[in-house]
Amino acid sequence: MTSPVRVAVVGVGYWGPNIVRNLYENPAAEPTWVVDPNPAARKRITLRYPAIREAASIDEVLDQDDVDAVAIVTPVSTHYDLAAKALRAGKHVFVEKPLAASSRDAAELIGIAEARGLVLMPGHTFLYSPPVVKIKQLFDSGELGEILFVTTSRVNLGLHQPDVSVVWDLGPHDFSILRYLLDELPATVSAVSRSCVLPGIPDVAFINLSYPSGTIAHVELSWLAPSKLRRTAIVGSRKMVVYDDTANEPVRVFDTGADLPDPGSFGEYRLTYRTGDIVSPRVDATEPLSIELAEFASAVREGHPIRSSPQVGLDVIKTIEAVERSLADGGRPTELQSGGLENNEPLPGSEARR
Ligand SMILES: NC(=O)c1ccc[n+]([C@@H]2O[C@H](COP(=O)([O-])OP(=O)(O)OC[C@H]3O[C@@H](n4cnc5c(N)ncnc54)[C@H](O)[C@@H]3O)[C@@H](O)[C@H]2O)c1
Repeated sequence: MTSPVRVAVVGVGYWGPNIVRNLYENPAAEPTWVVDPNPAARKRITLRYPAIREAASIDEVLDQDDVDAVAIVTPVSTHYDLAAKALRAGKHVFVEKPLAASSRDAAELIGIAEARGLVLMPGHTFLYSPPVVKIKQLFDSGELGEILFVTTSRVNLGLHQPDVSVVWDLGPHDFSILRYLLDELPATVSAVSRSCVLPGIPDVAFINLSYPSGTIAHVELSWLAPSKLRRTAIVGSRKMVVYDDTANEPVRVFDTGADLPDPGSFGEYRLTYRTGDIVSPRVDATEPLSIELAEFASAVREGHPIRSSPQVGLDVIKTIEAVERSLADGGRPTELQSGGLENNEPLPGSEARR
C-alpha cells in the first residue's frame, strides 16, 4: 500500500480530536470519517476539517471504500465490541489504551487480528515519548547499572472517569513504561486504593510491583491531588535518573550512588557516597502521538513492526487485573500469572468467544 491510510476516528470527546489532528498532519494518513453519537462532538471536528465526513455509529462506516483503518477513542467499556467489529470487517485497528476491559477480550482481539493478517495497535503513547525513549537507551547501554528500584507519581486534580478506576485510566501509562524499560513483567503486585469522591470508583491507588530480576517499583496514581505530578525516579547501581514530564529538562541523569568497598577487617564497613555530575540529555520536542500514529500508518502500509504491540497491551491489562485481585484481597501480594486467562485463554488465531 503506497497511498495514505484512510482512517475513521471513532469517538471524538476529549482525546479523539488529538488523534484527528495528528492523522491530518501526517502525509501517510488521512482522517476520512468521524464517528460519534454526539452531533456536537462531530461538528467540532468537521467545522475545522470540512473534508471529513460524519457518522453516528461505526456500522455506517465499515463498508465504506474510503476506510482502511479505524481508530477507537471511546470509553474503555466499548473498546472490545468496536474493535472486534472493525477487525471482522477487515479494517486495521488502532485502539486507545487500554486495549480492552479484560485480558480475555484483549487476547481475543489479538486472535482475530492475527487470523486476518490485520494490524491491531493499542495506543500506549508514552512508548513514543522522546524522554522515555532516551531513558530506554540509558537502560540498554548499561549506564545506570543494575536497576534497583523505580518510583512513579502520576497525580493531578481530575478527570474522574464514570466507568473505570484510576488504575484502569492512569495505570496503563506507568505499566506500559515499566514494561518497556525493564523488558519484563512483574512477578507479584500488591495495592491499596480508596474511592474518595465517587462511591465504588477508586480515585487513588498505591501499587507495589516486584520483578523477577529483583527490581521493585512503586506506582502512585490519583485524580485527587493539590498539584500535577508526572515524576519517575529510577535508582540504578551506577547512576540515577529523574524523569519529570512537566519540566523543561524532562530527563536528568545523576552520577550518584552509594558504594560498599571491601572492608579492611572483619566488622569494618564504611560506605562511600558519590554525588557527581547531573546531566540533562537533549530530547526531541516531537509530540509522542504523532510518532505513534506514524508507526501505525507504516505498520499498515509496509508491515513495519510496532513498539506498542498487542502483546504490550495484553501485558498491561494483566498487570491491572493483578492490581484488582490484590485490592479485592485486602492488599495482599498477588502473582501476575495466577489469575486472568487461565485454561480457557483464547489462543492467538482462534476466534472462539468465551
Ligand atoms: N493516550 C493518552 O494519553 C490518552 C489520554 C486521554 C484519553 N485516552 C484514552 O482515550 C479514550 C477516550 O477517552 P476520552 O477521555 O476522550 O473520553 P471522552 O468520554 O471524553 O470521549 C469519548 C467519546 O466517545 C464517544 N462514544 C462513546 N461510545 C461510542 C460509540 N459506541 N461509538 C462512537 N463513539 C462513542 C462519546 O460520545 C465521546 O464523545 C479512552 O480509552 C482513554 O483511556 C488516552
